[in-house]
Amino acid sequence: MAGITNFMQGRSKRILVPGGAGYIGSHTCVELINRGYTPVIVDNFVNSSIASVDRIRQITGANDVPVIEADIRDTAEMVRVLREHECEAVIHFAGLKAVGESTAQPLDYYSNNVQGSLSLLEAMKQAGTGHIVFSSSATVYGTPVSLPYTESHPLAPTNPYGMTKYAVELMLNDLVASRAGINAGILRYFNPIGAHPSGLIGEDPNGVPNNLMPFVAQVAVGRRPHLNVFGNDYDTPDGTGVRDYIHVVDLAEAHIAALEKLLASPDSFTVNLGSGIGHSVLDVVKAFEQASGRDIPLEFVDRRPGDLPAYWADPTHAMELLGWQTRLTLEDMCRDQWAWQSGNPNGYPDVKIGAA
Ligand code: NAD
Ligand code: UFG
Repeated sequence: MAGITNFMQGRSKRILVPGGAGYIGSHTCVELINRGYTPVIVDNFVNSSIASVDRIRQITGANDVPVIEADIRDTAEMVRVLREHECEAVIHFAGLKAVGESTAQPLDYYSNNVQGSLSLLEAMKQAGTGHIVFSSSATVYGTPVSLPYTESHPLAPTNPYGMTKYAVELMLNDLVASRAGINAGILRYFNPIGAHPSGLIGEDPNGVPNNLMPFVAQVAVGRRPHLNVFGNDYDTPDGTGVRDYIHVVDLAEAHIAALEKLLASPDSFTVNLGSGIGHSVLDVVKAFEQASGRDIPLEFVDRRPGDLPAYWADPTHAMELLGWQTRLTLEDMCRDQWAWQSGNPNGYPDVKIGAA
């Protein structure tokens, strides 16, 4: 519908997408294009490949996807890009996201995630851009006081990465309250996995994956001998950790719903993005074995320090406010992850910046 409206207006709305070459950003760019928007990608490629932009063009047939290599901490450059492309809103994915690394290098995380977001907001003020969707995380809740997590659950992150997300949420809330002409949609993601069904874009972690799904997929494709399961003595149905996994395409669609809410109404909001269903590590392994037809050898090892036993979302608020809910299942997530992993066993090809 938005696509038709924009077409009839003769020009599609441009949306700045910092971090748009990354995992969730690339999937959201596809959905933006599908709905008639033009994403303007800004990325410094610290954790992504320019090849993903080429794949976005391949999936959508859009040749006019602007991509600017820049760091969001360069405020003047952000102002320039927002003005030149007349962006109406920002969907902000740019940041670092590895929990363990954030403990070892906290200043990098505060610089990229907090200073970076501050710079972007300053640029939006200067350029007069009035809407921002922000990638937050369920990690802001910390140890569950009650489950499922609702948006009013106390916020007490337990690692520097989570603290940076919390800090940006506070900054956004204060900015909104100051009536600076900016409204914000804060999205608290649970565990995004899967890939676009085309198998052309997906998660391409550097080095040894930290997260469960890319690790499982690399075992299935033969890049790693077995999965270490971190703990089988939790108080969960099978003893392994339980999480609320969400298909990255469902997540991308939620960004469109959030964007359109911000464009249509002055209010700001914070919502959980999850399915409301918890799956254990062994549930994921079993579903992946079925989807791929491959065995996933595993070993039970000690718990990973800092891991919580189990948590999942209450997704009611997102449904009531945005009219959005997940539609894809764990089986869909595993099937699409396998299409990506088996089609791209070593991730994206090496492409020089500027070649895509
Ligand atoms: P990703 O690393 O694939 O994407 C982030 C992108 O931002 C990358 O392309 C990276 O090169 C870019 N980037 C990083 N710092 C930058 C900077 N200073 N300037 C310009 N570009 C920069 O990660 P993702 O999984 O797509 O996550 C996107 C966002 O969602 C992140 O903010 C992350 O913290 C948040 N998030 C992710 C998860 C998850 O499990 N994947 C969960 C909750 C929240
Ligand atoms: N796990 C294993 N073996 C592995 C990797 C993970 O058994 O090799 C287990 C973990 O112990 C946990 C589950 O699989 O029980 C999921 O672990 P992930 O690392 O995939 O995800 P987390 O829930 O730990 O964290 C993720 C992101 C965070 C984000 C959080 C939001 O990594 O950035 O989700 O809920 F904040």
